[in-house]
Amino acid sequence: MRYEGATEIISRLHKPVSQVQEHYNAYPYPARDPKDERKRLITGSPSNPMEIDHHVFGGARDWNVPLRVLVAGGGSGDGLIQIAQVLTDAKRPYEITYIDLSISTRKIAEKRAKIRGLKNITFITGSLLDASEYGAFDYIDCCGVLHHLLEPQAGFDALAKALAPKGGLGFMVYAPYGRSGVYPLQEAFGELTQGMTPQDRLSFGKSVFQRVPQNHEFKRNTLVGDHQDGDAGFYDLLLHSQDIACTVRDVAGLLDAAGLELANFTQPAMYSLDGLLPPDFVRPDQFSRIDEMHLAERLRGNMKTHIGYAMKQGEVVHVDPLDPTAIPHFIGENPKKVEAFIVQRGGLPVAINGQKLGLGMSPQAAKLLGAIDGVSSVGMLQEKSGLDLAAFNTAWAKLSNLLCGYGLMLYSGLNKIKKSSGVPNDIG
Ligand SMILES: C[S@@+](CC[C@H](N)C(=O)[O-])C[C@H]1O[C@@H](n2cnc3c(N)ncnc32)[C@H](O)[C@@H]1O
Repeated sequence: MRYEGATEIISRLHKPVSQVQEHYNAYPYPARDPKDERKRLITGSPSNPMEIDHHVFGGARDWNVPLRVLVAGGGSGDGLIQIAQVLTDAKRPYEITYIDLSISTRKIAEKRAKIRGLKNITFITGSLLDASEYGAFDYIDCCGVLHHLLEPQAGFDALAKALAPKGGLGFMVYAPYGRSGVYPLQEAFGELTQGMTPQDRLSFGKSVFQRVPQNHEFKRNTLVGDHQDGDAGFYDLLLHSQDIACTVRDVAGLLDAAGLELANFTQPAMYSLDGLLPPDFVRPDQFSRIDEMHLAERLRGNMKTHIGYAMKQGEVVHVDPLDPTAIPHFIGENPKKVEAFIVQRGGLPVAINGQKLGLGMSPQAAKLLGAIDGVSSVGMLQEKSGLDLAAFNTAWAKLSNLLCGYGLMLYSGLNKIKKSSGVPNDIG
């Protein structure tokens, strides 16, 4: 049944009540008040439809064809609402199936969708391990879930099985080094709180946490902060019963075993050794892409998640930034304002994973960036630039590579139609 104010509940859980299900029934995550839908839209990665287009469909999806979406472990609905609202605003057809183990969490997601009047959503209380029973999907969102399965591989396998040909998976899984200190606390709390109700576990955990010394690895870690965001955040970060962080090599192995291939991470520059190694260092010939990423992850030490897109092996298509019909988007502030700022300062400051970076750009690159309006194609931008094709292509490829590396540029024809959610974006 399509979501029209009514609810379909299909209860087909693998285990009658697991600790994970008990956790999220007691503390739906993330904590959201459905009334807030009247004043803001939460957007972010994965699953911004333009980002889906860029990473899964080579920036060239035909958005007149309905997008069949599965939101697997949809929680209180951030990914679901983002996809449905952005596509509704763009007047693009879609069908979304939402699955989550937790009934109370699903109710929040349903209320949020109802307040926004979003249609074509089927809500299911169940396990993503049964995903393929609900259809074949062009896109599957699975954010912050697979690391909470008893066997993450079973989750990757189940989602791979539910992908339609040329479909893609957008995922976020925890990464170990940026979460330093989390696991010793989770393990200790786990041993001490056996048999407690979620409520007792929370009050016990909070009371012990106050006694944990300030120089505990966790308390020195400035990258994690969920425990300060209320009960659901504290529970999810420090009292989770099933939480397996994955290195980039683990992610590659899980994808590979499921017959999937990494299309890309949303900020691929963070997985590059450029800027980390001396320029004269000669990399060994046998270095693979995954070797480089794995080294970069350990050298940076500040990644607490891996966010990326994957497709069935052999199906990955990359954006061609020099395709004259491709439509680029700058993600962030108004490009004109950014152009003025870059001309004044000689670069664009960004902060990623708590690290401040300056992206150096020439006045010519700033001008190209300032002309991006979300409607003009690369060919139109070349004409406007006054540069000949060869000069434009050189400058554009460099700019595109730089901005795409940090997730600041995406290619998509999604919003040839006007946006109209009427609510400010809160890129999180
Ligand atoms: C950390 S929350 C993430 C929620 C949401 N994806 C987001 O990013 O806001 C994890 C969610 O996954 C759900 N979950 C865990 N294991 C699941 C499974 N096997 N099948 C379906 N949902 C599951 C939990 O109930 C919980 O709502």
